[in-house]
Amino acid sequence: MSAGPEPSPHAAALREAIAGRGATVAVAGLGYVGLPLLVAIAEAGFGVIGIDPDAERVATLAAGGSYVSDVPAEAVARLARARFTTDPGEVAAAQVVVVAVPTPLTDGSPDLTAVRTAMADVARAMRPGTLVVLESTTYPGTTDEVVRPILETSGLACGAEFFLAYSPERIDPGSAWSLRDTPKVVSGIDEAAADLCEAFYGCFVTKTVRTPTTRDAEMAKLIENTFRHVNIALVNELAMVAPELGVDVWAALDAAASKPFGYLAFWPGPGVGGHCIAIDPAYLSWKVGQRLGFGVDFIEHAKEVNNRMPRVVAGRIGDALNAVGKPVKGSRVLVLGVAYKPGVNDIRESPSIMVLERLASQGAEVSYHDPFVPALRLAGRELRSVPLDAATVAGQDCVAILTAHPGVDHDRVVAEAALVFDARGVTRGLRAQNVVLL
Ligand SMILES: NC(=O)c1ccc[n+]([C@@H]2O[C@H](COP(=O)([O-])OP(=O)(O)OC[C@H]3O[C@@H](n4cnc5c(N)ncnc54)[C@H](O)[C@@H]3O)[C@@H](O)[C@H]2O)c1
Repeated sequence: MSAGPEPSPHAAALREAIAGRGATVAVAGLGYVGLPLLVAIAEAGFGVIGIDPDAERVATLAAGGSYVSDVPAEAVARLARARFTTDPGEVAAAQVVVVAVPTPLTDGSPDLTAVRTAMADVARAMRPGTLVVLESTTYPGTTDEVVRPILETSGLACGAEFFLAYSPERIDPGSAWSLRDTPKVVSGIDEAAADLCEAFYGCFVTKTVRTPTTRDAEMAKLIENTFRHVNIALVNELAMVAPELGVDVWAALDAAASKPFGYLAFWPGPGVGGHCIAIDPAYLSWKVGQRLGFGVDFIEHAKEVNNRMPRVVAGRIGDALNAVGKPVKGSRVLVLGVAYKPGVNDIRESPSIMVLERLASQGAEVSYHDPFVPALRLAGRELRSVPLDAATVAGQDCVAILTAHPGVDHDRVVAEAALVFDARGVTRGLRAQNVVLL
């Protein structure tokens, strides 16, 4: 990292505006990441402008509503100095711009279209003295190789007239960890940008962790999610082979988890989903492949194992039905939980839905209950979440617990159902005769 030739007067002014909350902050991309962030920034005393091309989302927020399960509508409604718009030109009124747009895979490769579009919009509108922070998860080099040249089309000088930073988002939707209490990794293209980035996030998180370069911060985020991806794959692979060894994988994992040092517990399940674990490691492997001509084998193998899990789980449900003399075709199967993880309404890449689809394609009469997902489309038709009453549960050939949401009484389900397939191990303590564990 190199310091600019002379301290920029814009940097000093911006630092003051951040400290005094006089800076207006624009957040581009108001999804699972951008919306909670905007609320936290506004609650810290900044005026905020929320920008998103999705007119429906903007209208919901402008009316004081919310579509993200972790952000209650009241939190949006009580924001005093917030404005929501589809017009990216409103960046002109901001001194800090945070970009939290999707970074998906297209045909297995990183797709930075949204980042490029959002940054081109920022370049067209930003004024001298703006701090631009990328929050989207991406491969090392994106901020300096991709974003910087786009922002420089503004004609402003990086490090003197605008400041470019990267700070990966770490929120864990549906969990008790708040944005405030989760240490925030911060970095900048140069010393001035890193200082400003640290000062800005320091206004609303309790701890910032600075990396020497933006590449290190980009990599830190990918390491975190690759670590989860690989460890989930490890226990999933063990869950596939354990029965052949006469081992109850849950009992073995519970015992292993009692070790107070040198072990971190992960649990098997129907696979991985969402916008992070299922996608981010591929950004790293792709970048390594581009640079070195080979990928990261751990990531490739983990992907193979985790992607296989929905089929494995559907197969195990079929085995459980077979054991009580029923074929999958024509059997009534109620799936509990279709979101990709507990406590959220996010169904992107959800492995539970892949299991549901597979059972439906095999002729099972499928239905689902999910307190967070009222409806979904399955093979062109709409399914609605059914109530979890005793009659519904008792009327099933099998109830499959695929995502164990808080607030769902799984013990009661075990008491009322003829057969339960538990892919999450949440009923393992019951040791009930009618429960088959993954
Ligand atoms: N969801 C998570 O738990 C999580 C956690 C950490 C990091 N991330 C990362 O954060 C980024 C955003 O993820 P998300 O889950 O919030 O996505 P999301 O799909 O929930 O929201 C993204 C929003 O960006 C908007 N958008 C698209 N193009 C835009 C543009 N050009 N300008 C402005 N807005 C635009 C979309 O309309 C959408 O509302 C991704 O890189 C993701 O990997 C996500």
